[in-house]
Amino acid sequence: MPLLVLLGCQWGDEGKGKIVDFLSGDVDLVARYQGGNNAGHTVVIAGKQYIQHLIPSGILHEKTACLIGNGVVVDPEVLREELDTLEKNGISVEGRLFISQNAHLILPYHRLMDKALERMRGKGKIGTTGRGIGCAYGDKITRQGVRVLDLLDPERFARKVEKALDYYRPIFEGILGEQCPTTQAVIDQIGPLADFIRGFVVDGVSMINRYIEQGKRVLAEGAQGIMLDIDFGTYPFVTSSNPSPGGVCTGLGVGPRKINSILGVVKAYTTRVGAGPLPTELLDDVGEKLRTEGAEFGATTGRPRRCGWFDAVVLRRTLQISGITDIVITKLDVLDSFPEIKICTGYRFQGEILDLFPFGIEEEAEVEPIYETLPGWREKTTGIKQFDSLPENARAYLHRIEQLLDARVAIVSVGPGRENTIMRQDSFF
Ligand code: GDP
Ligand code: IMO
Ligand code: MG
Repeated sequence: MPLLVLLGCQWGDEGKGKIVDFLSGDVDLVARYQGGNNAGHTVVIAGKQYIQHLIPSGILHEKTACLIGNGVVVDPEVLREELDTLEKNGISVEGRLFISQNAHLILPYHRLMDKALERMRGKGKIGTTGRGIGCAYGDKITRQGVRVLDLLDPERFARKVEKALDYYRPIFEGILGEQCPTTQAVIDQIGPLADFIRGFVVDGVSMINRYIEQGKRVLAEGAQGIMLDIDFGTYPFVTSSNPSPGGVCTGLGVGPRKINSILGVVKAYTTRVGAGPLPTELLDDVGEKLRTEGAEFGATTGRPRRCGWFDAVVLRRTLQISGITDIVITKLDVLDSFPEIKICTGYRFQGEILDLFPFGIEEEAEVEPIYETLPGWREKTTGIKQFDSLPENARAYLHRIEQLLDARVAIVSVGPGRENTIMRQDSFF
């Protein structure tokens, strides 16, 4: 059964886009299953950078089909912009981009409410991307969402938007003291995109299951990371969907037994954007060096990412949740110039030593990381093509990670380019 899942095992930005693109050359269909344009997936081909927020990262391979699954929240205006950018770059999506009819829409009032709620939270804000993600998923769960298929029928679209605004108006105007868009304004802004979107809309469930039944290769692309998962992440500092493997089944309409392997993408150190606990965060020169060497600035909002050492406590938990045994280590090259490198192997927490990330911590101050120190390799790794050609200390670092996580490093990434990728096996299908 040819369904491979690729997802992030930390707080997002692990380099999923790069690895999805790398693997997509021999994939027939790449499908996004959750998230929306809060994601920023970067791919670098021949030195040129492409960033997708909504469209799957497989789109840069001209023969690969891409599906935006029902679990994704779709902002029609962003879709339009992203397609315009692809077209300007000479990439045609003709006949190979599909959107599930059941996907929910992000509408202008979701974006406004996302930002208004953040303002209201003040110091306790989550640091969302402001893209309306949480509000669109909120409406889905409270059953007042508007779906892609609704947009295709103008009367139904108007009816659903009006109902949703009956709920939002008193909150905007009475509680937040802000203006609520009128139904007509939303229709005028989004309605005209219906014809543009119509050509992409499919029964996504039938499509992906047909591909799988025909033995074609399907890759499910996760956004964010398991530490941002609504159920398993550092709640409430999380996103509003399930990047963890359960999200694949609900976000695409495939049974769990169809998944034949799951690859977890793991950065060689730790980063996070937005608020919430990050136990290994370094607020000193070393953290600054990680940010500079790793160009750690958000691909969606441009915010500086918070940086810290590799945290095996986090990884043990995310591997437990996802059942992942094969991992991809990215950005190993970022550590090339560090004289020594630390790994967090446990936490001191309320008088105990923990080796598994505890649910319920809201501040990093509650835990004290325990580190072990490994010597750096102080050699350039970008350009190396074989695992065995990596510097000895770099291999020792990877082996130590494998040992601590009881997992196998299957791919190592040593630069942002497609070519900077070391495979330890020929295929994952
Ligand atoms: P994603 O959200 O998981 O797809 O990751 P992002 O694209 O948001 O962030 C990863 C960043 O690291 C991007 O700028 C990539 O171009 C870059 N990147 C990916 N892999 C590597 C690598 O192995 N080495 C270096 N130096 N950069 C990488
Ligand atoms: P990719 O797919 C990193 C973070 C936001 C914020 C929290 C909630 O590129 O890895 P939201 O807008 O989703 O309601 O914000 O989640 N966040 C991400 N952080 N990478 C992402 O995506 C993220 N998507 C959301 O910064 O802390
Ligand atoms: Mg990203």
